[in-house]
Amino acid sequence: MRRKYIVGNWKMNGHITSLHEAQAIEKAAHAHPGVDVALCPPFTLVMAMAKLCPQLGVGGQDCHTLDKGAFTGSVSADMLVDCGAKLAIVGHSERREYSHESNEMVRNKASAALGAGLDVIICVGEPLSVREAGDAETYVLGQVAQSLPMALLHAPKRVAIAYEPIWAIGTGLTASTDEIAAMHGAIRGALGSAANDVRILYGGSVTPDNAAEILATSDVDGALVGGASLSAAKFVPIIAAGEGASNT
Ligand code: 13P
Repeated sequence: MRRKYIVGNWKMNGHITSLHEAQAIEKAAHAHPGVDVALCPPFTLVMAMAKLCPQLGVGGQDCHTLDKGAFTGSVSADMLVDCGAKLAIVGHSERREYSHESNEMVRNKASAALGAGLDVIICVGEPLSVREAGDAETYVLGQVAQSLPMALLHAPKRVAIAYEPIWAIGTGLTASTDEIAAMHGAIRGALGSAANDVRILYGGSVTPDNAAEILATSDVDGALVGGASLSAAKFVPIIAAGEGASNT
């Protein structure tokens, strides 16, 4: 049985003054023990949040492929562990696009994260043009095949895949539950012996209004939430929906 996993990605949002939201979210996580809850703030807040909210999984939004070296501006998985992180997101479509990250880089980052002891969320998802051309499944399964590290086979419970259709991110559009079920089923089908353990999350305009329906969709093991994770008022109902979906 895979536990539902509700993860917030704060992207480039949040200051020290935002940590009270994380505390309120931690309280809600405590009140909903049937789900796993994590928050990935900007690197600048990881240490403070991890100290303040020990019952939340706190994570980075990226990590480098290597442990250390002359890579100005980068942060390694080992450094994330050092400041209390438990997980890292890798391969988010915003990094694939703006930082030109290839599937190979994403795979190496996922390996580095697992090697350092972090859980990892590997993001995949198609642009609108690919969906409209009818090629979404081929595109996403290609990303899955090339972005997953071999180490996954030894630690499938520490790996989640987030399916985030790019056209649904921050747009208020969500994939239909039929589209989500079809894609998640296809991803699960591609996971071989790891299929029972790897959690597959949906991301893209998840809100308190649509979370229950999405989280009850077959093969959806959780949600990766952007905008609605920035405030406890919006994120807590999504956590509650996760627990509700676990109980059905
Ligand atoms: P939104 O929930 O703001 O659409 O963002 C989704 C996302 O990219 C999470 O990683």
